[in-house]
Amino acid sequence: MINSEKTREYFPSLNRVNESNQQIIYLDGPGGTQVPIQVIEAISKYYLRSNANTHGEFITSKETDSIMDNLRFKVAAMLGAKSPNSISIGQNMTTLNYSLARALSKKFKEGDEVIVTELDHEANRGPWMILKEVGVKIIEVKLMQNGTLDYSDFKNKINEKTVMVCMGMSSNALGTLNNFIKVKEYLKGRECFFLLDAVHYAPHFSIDVEKLGCDFMLCSAYKFYGPHISFLYSRPGVLESLDPDRLVVQDQEAPYIIETGTLNHASCAGVSAAIDFISTLGEGESYREKLESAYLHISDHEFNLAKYLYESLDGFDKTTVIGPDFSTRERTPTVSFVHSDHSPQEVCASLAKHNICAWDGHFYALKAIQELGLESKGGVTRLGISLYNTKNEIDTVVEAIKAI
Ligand SMILES: Cc1ncc(COP(=O)(O)O)c(C=O)c1O
Repeated sequence: MINSEKTREYFPSLNRVNESNQQIIYLDGPGGTQVPIQVIEAISKYYLRSNANTHGEFITSKETDSIMDNLRFKVAAMLGAKSPNSISIGQNMTTLNYSLARALSKKFKEGDEVIVTELDHEANRGPWMILKEVGVKIIEVKLMQNGTLDYSDFKNKINEKTVMVCMGMSSNALGTLNNFIKVKEYLKGRECFFLLDAVHYAPHFSIDVEKLGCDFMLCSAYKFYGPHISFLYSRPGVLESLDPDRLVVQDQEAPYIIETGTLNHASCAGVSAAIDFISTLGEGESYREKLESAYLHISDHEFNLAKYLYESLDGFDKTTVIGPDFSTRERTPTVSFVHSDHSPQEVCASLAKHNICAWDGHFYALKAIQELGLESKGGVTRLGISLYNTKNEIDTVVEAIKAI
């Protein structure tokens, strides 16, 4: 079980108060979580002691090498990847996805089809649009008005021309948990790349890339209590079969082949500390077991709070929650709603006066918000729950919403 009061003690930024002495209530985890002190200390320690570039013979360079190796090992453990060589590091998910799309644009041919979804963040749609330049057709799976993907449409769109399916594991805008397992079954027996965007999933649930059978997966550490840095998992052997844009002087093998320039070493030290932090919330023998157990605790805590929030908003006549309900666990703890009398921006501005951090708009999941007919209304107000949020905070937020 997560003791959120105790866990909060590790997050100094949650102590911030406004001029009326109201403590910050941070509900923008889907935009980026706060970081525990262990992460801040790991980053400071890097600059205080080990700041250097990689592959030198001197002490700080060797320490930087081991920070990078250690990070790949930890991300591999977190994603269930067999080898740290499956983990490439990048500035953010969008940049990594563009690099991958550019590499695949040299492999795919005219008439090939790549499937994306209307529910996805633009970071898992925009990069694939560049494939149109080489004659690849981009096929879009429909979003239904209840905020879930249309799986019969999905199935119908997969055919012998499909060379890749790119989908999110969950929606950062609506909290929908997508049925990626079912989609993987649709792909059985086909030669087709399967890419999963885990950016909004990785903060809430444990991942096993081996079980999922995906070729690529992307996630961003700043959504799971780390600094701004991201990862691409690729199935062993796949990255070497591609031709990513790169310098002749860089390592030409996976996972380095798609990593351009000097990486953010201090942030890499911070991400290892973030994953260590998550692991301390679980029990088990191995590092992976601790992470898996921690995620069970995290998702239980977050689901219960989010369900409580959902029910409070559902019972209020001026708010309508957009997206799936909480009758099943097919949900992330991200609750988006519209208010009958106020725009999402007005709602967020009003909440901000109480030091409540909530975001409004489309959150870059523009297509989904357009398809739901909400773009002209300013999108939705999003309340994203993280492991440090408490029931008291939810009560305060609901009260503030009702008072607008
Ligand atoms: C579901 C999802 N995918 C992709 C991204 C883009 O991630 P990044 O900011 O690391 O490029 C985000 C960011 O909000 C997201 O929520």
